[in-house]
Amino acid sequence: MSVVILGVFVADTAFHADRMPVMGETVLGRDFVLGPGGKGSNQAVAAARAGADAHFVTRLGTDDFARLARQTWGDAGVTPHVIDTPESYTGAAFIFLEHGTGQNAIIVSPGAAGLITPADIDANAGPIGGADVFVTQLEQPLDAALRGLEVARAGGARTILNPAPASELPDEMLALCDYITPNETEAETLTGIKVNSTDAALKAAKAFRAKGVGAAIITLGESGALYHDGDTTLHVPAMSVGKVVDTTGAGDAFNGGFATALSEGKAPEEAVRFGNATAGLSVTRPGAASAMPTRAEIESLLRG
Ligand code: RIB
Ligand code: NA
Repeated sequence: MSVVILGVFVADTAFHADRMPVMGETVLGRDFVLGPGGKGSNQAVAAARAGADAHFVTRLGTDDFARLARQTWGDAGVTPHVIDTPESYTGAAFIFLEHGTGQNAIIVSPGAAGLITPADIDANAGPIGGADVFVTQLEQPLDAALRGLEVARAGGARTILNPAPASELPDEMLALCDYITPNETEAETLTGIKVNSTDAALKAAKAFRAKGVGAAIITLGESGALYHDGDTTLHVPAMSVGKVVDTTGAGDAFNGGFATALSEGKAPEEAVRFGNATAGLSVTRPGAASAMPTRAEIESLLRG
């Protein structure tokens, strides 16, 4: 039941406005919210709230945002494995949140977590290799993500790569992934296939399989997720539960929920449904980590 996540914490600075400024322009915002973010940390919070024994491996500065990180993990029940990095700073994200649609555009500066090295992974090889499920993303350096997947695989953990933000990946990295969980644009960057339908998502999933991935789950926003592992193909619809107010961290909610369900031995279809429920609840609330639902909320949505 342990889920170990490698990744980044940042402070999300969310600016709510009617539209993005163009270069040289100033627009007046409607609201501003400071809260915990960073894909890896959001996933760890999602997993802990969904019921996992969640661990998070990262670097932090020694500043106010680092205190926000520790407070967030303490409240959610995430066990941190942190290398303090006083020579850098705890990162931050600029988030433009579009009023009315809840869609976002983000710039993330990882700060200290951008200095995570393969040696940091080796220093945490115990928890990583001993995990039931290991998850990483691409906000910290690629060589650290790669080493994380290697150590996890060598220790017998099941591995999930959430390839966000999108970046080109060496084939050796894909071959270490039991599961890959791109959204449409990330799948396109990685496979060259434009994902604008479930058929196209299946094509992309097959391209991942051809590179050695065990199973691909392409998340399709309000169309749910497409799962393909070579034998089985499933289209699992999204679960909508109310008005969408903020989609920031929806992918992280999916990954945290999916990883939690897998760590409990749930079958892939059930795990994808669990992830979709986690994401569906998260978009009805403002913020990223702050929006992650509890186990009870996820189960009650799944019961219908
Ligand atoms: O996935 C959402 C996250 O991406 C935000 O919390 C922001 O910090 C960026 O890292
Ligand atoms: Na949200």
